[in-house]
Amino acid sequence: MSLPFSQSCENNKDYILAQLRRHFTKPFGRVLEIAGGTGQHAEYFAQHMPHLHWQSTDVPENVETLNLRLEAAGLSNLPSARPFDVTQDKLAHSPLDYIFSANSLHIMPTDAVTHFFRHMRYLLASSGVLCVYGPFKYKGEFTTSSNAEFDNWLKGRNSASGIRDFETVQLLAEEAGLSLLEDNPMPANNQLLVWTKS
Ligand SMILES: C[S@@+](CC[C@H](N)C(=O)[O-])C[C@H]1O[C@@H](n2cnc3c(N)ncnc32)[C@H](O)[C@@H]1O
Repeated sequence: MSLPFSQSCENNKDYILAQLRRHFTKPFGRVLEIAGGTGQHAEYFAQHMPHLHWQSTDVPENVETLNLRLEAAGLSNLPSARPFDVTQDKLAHSPLDYIFSANSLHIMPTDAVTHFFRHMRYLLASSGVLCVYGPFKYKGEFTTSSNAEFDNWLKGRNSASGIRDFETVQLLAEEAGLSLLEDNPMPANNQLLVWTKS
């Protein structure tokens, strides 16, 4: 069976890896990935950062597909993905050193974005780091016209999805006890936002 594949993951994985290497430094660091998708990021990052234990998750209906790639990878620091829908109950997990999510906040409905940050209260350990990759608006403005077109396309599929305002997301993060460390511009009109739990 062919493995799930996303060209954008291939394009962005080295740029994201360079950023994660600066933040996910702890030996034996425990990472939780939310919205793992095809598993390309999980496989690549677990392979290139063997000091980390990388636990990927996705909504229950996507876990089987995600696991096709993770299980084929056969990496000792990459267990099978677990089901986790951020709109549902707490994930039973001890607090994590690191949490990573890519291209998820603009796909999930607005209320799910609120839930996403609420989970940070118990999922992220003290001094833990959250890295979120994807496109954002600033003060209501798209960073590029192609992001504006992308937002239109997203809303055509699901009116509750769309590129999020950085300020809204930052407020949700603050309410969850997170402090912004960095907002890194990334290729292809994306950002890599980094918070820590103070
Ligand atoms: C565009 S894909 C991104 C996948 C991958 N992270 C990447 O960068 O290619 C969006 C992901 O968000 C996940 N997602 C949507 N709603 C979710 C929710 N309520 N809870 C958790 N994940 C969700 C989808 O299942 C999908 O895997």
